[in-house]
Amino acid sequence: MPTLPFPALRRREFLRAGGAFAAAAALPRTTAAAPRGAVQLTPAPASAAILGDGASETAVWAYGGAGLAPVLRVRQDTPFQAAVRNGLDEDTTVHFHGIRLPNAMDGVPGLTQPPIRPGGSFEYAFTPPDAGTFWYHPHANSLVQMGRGLAGALIVEEAEPPQVDRELVWLVQDWRLTPDGQVDPHFASRMQQAMAGRIGNAVTINGKVAQPVPVRAGERIRLRIVNAATARIMALRFEGHRATVVALDGQPCEPHEPMRGRLLLGPAMRADLILDMEGQPGRRYAVTDDFYEDELAYTLVSLAYESGRPLRDNVLDASVRLPANPLPQPDLAAAERHELVLQGGMMGGMGMMMRMNGAAWAINGIPMMGDGHAGMPPLLTVVLGRTCTLLLKNETAWWHPMHLHGHSVQVLTRDGAQVPGSIWGDTVLLAPRETVEVAFVADNPGDWMLHCHVIDHQVSGLMTVIRVA
Ligand code: C2O
Ligand code: CU
Ligand code: CU
Repeated sequence: MPTLPFPALRRREFLRAGGAFAAAAALPRTTAAAPRGAVQLTPAPASAAILGDGASETAVWAYGGAGLAPVLRVRQDTPFQAAVRNGLDEDTTVHFHGIRLPNAMDGVPGLTQPPIRPGGSFEYAFTPPDAGTFWYHPHANSLVQMGRGLAGALIVEEAEPPQVDRELVWLVQDWRLTPDGQVDPHFASRMQQAMAGRIGNAVTINGKVAQPVPVRAGERIRLRIVNAATARIMALRFEGHRATVVALDGQPCEPHEPMRGRLLLGPAMRADLILDMEGQPGRRYAVTDDFYEDELAYTLVSLAYESGRPLRDNVLDASVRLPANPLPQPDLAAAERHELVLQGGMMGGMGMMMRMNGAAWAINGIPMMGDGHAGMPPLLTVVLGRTCTLLLKNETAWWHPMHLHGHSVQVLTRDGAQVPGSIWGDTVLLAPRETVEVAFVADNPGDWMLHCHVIDHQVSGLMTVIRVA
């Protein structure tokens, strides 16, 4: 019996095949936000050479024009508008993940807006209060729409960014492809739902199986990584380099190296890294992902040093600390405290599965399924302006990146132990059986979703609604 939580597909072959058809490194495409006037986003069918420029193209869904993984750049505290026209033949919405925006702009069908019908339009408008690395994706039929490629990065620029030589954005997506390189159309597998979700067999950066990224010795790079996979968790290691984490989920943190040199990013999570290129000119260094352990570890991409002279002889002597965002500070003494118990999934051996009304998962015994719909009753109501703590108890045997809309939360404890530094995020990764306590000021009125960002888990019960009123 296989011991892996998902079938070991021909991922290695795909990664190799992709590599063989290599051309240039995939660079993010930038759609500039016009200072006045809206950015146009048109989710629609498209075709893309995700396996490399020589390989056959894959039928995908993309946000029109700019291809897969388009990057939007906006300024902190500056009004932003996106005009969405639905070019799919099913309903969609756009959710700007992690942005503390007004509830009506949150993009959850039924809950915060009517879905955008085929051929229909919707205009999103908000002023991002926080600088950082965010992203956007549909919140309708998410497993299919994201699994076919709909996702983009949303960079909110600081007024005063740290000094670097170059910035890179890596939007990582995970694809489950058939042997002829097309997206496997069998999305809803009950087995995947109750286990690790739809793990793919081809991983792309900015819409392409990654090619070596050219770098120059001595340069300082700010790397923004977005895990836009529907289910794949990543544990990244930078061979020969010290990566300094300066922000998580867009929120600045105490600059630190990842624990045991392994940057853990669940679906929807982001990290901003500062990388000093201290390697040897002419050499290559691998960036590997070994979350699923040895046999399934793979090289995500490599850093290929030019052979020329280093840009500078010593590491740049400039602060890597990011300016703080205006996050409301929790008042723990006056907090209202709630407990959310994550339940369900496949337990231990085969067949031991909790199923509640056709759901695979539940929160406090209540499964909410799908992507958002009208009349979702809130599990709890928090008084506007109050500090709220959530004790997230994972009683399952699976990992869950739990995401709260409309707020950023501070991670207080993990299994009872204080989390050092000031770590904030909108998506908090829970290990099997782990308990994590988070706190936030409920300063944003509305009905907000809280769900697992392994989309298979979300749509099969691991979702709830928190009302702030
Ligand atoms: Cu990326 Cu409901 O979230
Ligand atoms: Cu979100
Ligand atoms: Cu989950």
